[in-house]
Amino acid sequence: MKTNQNHQNPSLISLFKLFNAPLHLSNLLSLMLFFVFGLCFGIILTFHLKNVSFNLQFTQFSRSNTTTTEAALAAISDLVTVTVPEATLTPEKVGLRSYLTPPEPMHDMTDEELIWRASMAPKVRDYPFERTPKIAFMFLTRGPVVLAPLWEKFFKGNDGLYSIYVHSSDSSANVTVPEDSVFYGRRIPSKDVEWGKVNMIEAERRLLANALLDFSNQRFVLLSEACIPLFNFSTVYTYLINSKHNFVESYDLEGPVGRGRYSPKMAPTVDIEEWRKGSQWFEMDRDLAIEVISDKMYFSVFHDFCDGQCYADEHYLPTFVTKIFGQNNSNRTLTSVDWAKGGPHPTRYTRNDVTVEFLVKLRNDRSCEYNGEKNHICHLFARKFTSHALDRLLRIAPKLMQFNL
Ligand SMILES: *[C@@H]1O[C@H](CO)[C@@H](O)[C@H](O)[C@H]1NC(C)=O
Ligand SMILES: *[C@@H]1O[C@H](CO)[C@@H](O)[C@H](O)[C@H]1NC(C)=O
Ligand SMILES: *[C@@H]1O[C@H](CO)[C@@H](O)[C@H](O)[C@H]1NC(C)=O
Ligand SMILES: *[C@@H]1O[C@H](CO)[C@@H](O)[C@H](O)[C@H]1NC(C)=O
Ligand SMILES: *[C@@H]1O[C@H](CO)[C@@H](O)[C@H](O)[C@H]1NC(C)=O
Repeated sequence: MKTNQNHQNPSLISLFKLFNAPLHLSNLLSLMLFFVFGLCFGIILTFHLKNVSFNLQFTQFSRSNTTTTEAALAAISDLVTVTVPEATLTPEKVGLRSYLTPPEPMHDMTDEELIWRASMAPKVRDYPFERTPKIAFMFLTRGPVVLAPLWEKFFKGNDGLYSIYVHSSDSSANVTVPEDSVFYGRRIPSKDVEWGKVNMIEAERRLLANALLDFSNQRFVLLSEACIPLFNFSTVYTYLINSKHNFVESYDLEGPVGRGRYSPKMAPTVDIEEWRKGSQWFEMDRDLAIEVISDKMYFSVFHDFCDGQCYADEHYLPTFVTKIFGQNNSNRTLTSVDWAKGGPHPTRYTRNDVTVEFLVKLRNDRSCEYNGEKNHICHLFARKFTSHALDRLLRIAPKLMQFNL
């Protein structure tokens, strides 16, 4: 039986011979070499198979029943057990970090999953960690953010105080953003948006929900590709973070472009006296943002009875916010726009419109109420600027508005 085994394992024969031979110096050397080899092999194997629990099976070798081998192997197994680093056996420390880290903007959650996740709000209001409030700048655009070079200068030197989100509805537009841009990798999963349609509100909710996933975001401002800042970052940041109010424009308007767009089918969820109008370009705090994305009742009424010529984007938020969260709303917008020329679209500013005097006028147009007191700043942003205005804006604005250069 034993002979048979030995024939099947020729390598074992030599091993057997080695250990049974008188301990000459050369044999002793071979023995030590074998020991060192085994030791190294064991250690290397341990490091390679960190998490794999393995039982060293030396039964074949043990068959030789040589005390020396047994001793050597015992020594190796002892060393192997000892050299397993403790840290690899205990699981990684479980902290808040993974929960607080927002996912990449381009995730693959469905709208329903995204909104459910984003609608969670802590009942404990004090944060058990260092939290620097950030402002979420949400760009609702057709293609690329054409005035991005101006915004780059605006954001420069203010890392950690803002986050950017871009909903670019034109999926065919090649939004190639350079890697060193603040807009790089900030596009969220986007869908088609048509002017005046309810899917515009869905895009706004999508932007809000994505921005809510970052617990640091405290204020949320909606901008278009035609918007520019009117003040430097520190002025905008201070104004928004310290505001006790939301900036959702809301007013009651008689006539065809106001109450005329109301449908009696919306009653009793929305009565005609509760119908409001206002600019689509809002600014709001975290609490209101969570209410907006969580609303199903009012949104479904607008979805069903205010599509197309009703222009839901001008009525949904003003009506919803005024009805339920009215007392905390300033009822005005922070985005300046000129409707003086009439028609369905506001004035578009191009190259020759951009002068120092013009920008100064936009910055100091009138006096407004801010936290219950008079303040000379009414608008923090302005539209509509075309891409042709970019060169002049880049030359004039950073100096005039004292950007952090
Ligand atoms: C090897 O030793 C074990 C006891 O340690 C013994 O039971 C076994 O019979 C031995 N085998 C041979 C082949 O000598
Ligand atoms: C978008 O731009 C990248 C790089 O500029 C280019 O490789 C890619 O082919 C473009 N895609 C389309 C659809 O034009
Ligand atoms: C905005 O309108 C609401 C509802 O009409 C009102 O309660 C609130 O006081 C107004 N806000 C300001 C700042 O006047
Ligand atoms: C309105 O703001 C006050 C503090 O400014 C806050 O205590 C209150 O909860 C807010 N109300 C709503 C409905 O958000
Ligand atoms: C921002 O502009 C204000 C004036 O509007 C100025 O007082 C302030 O120093 C500027 N901030 C920076 C960081 O340049």
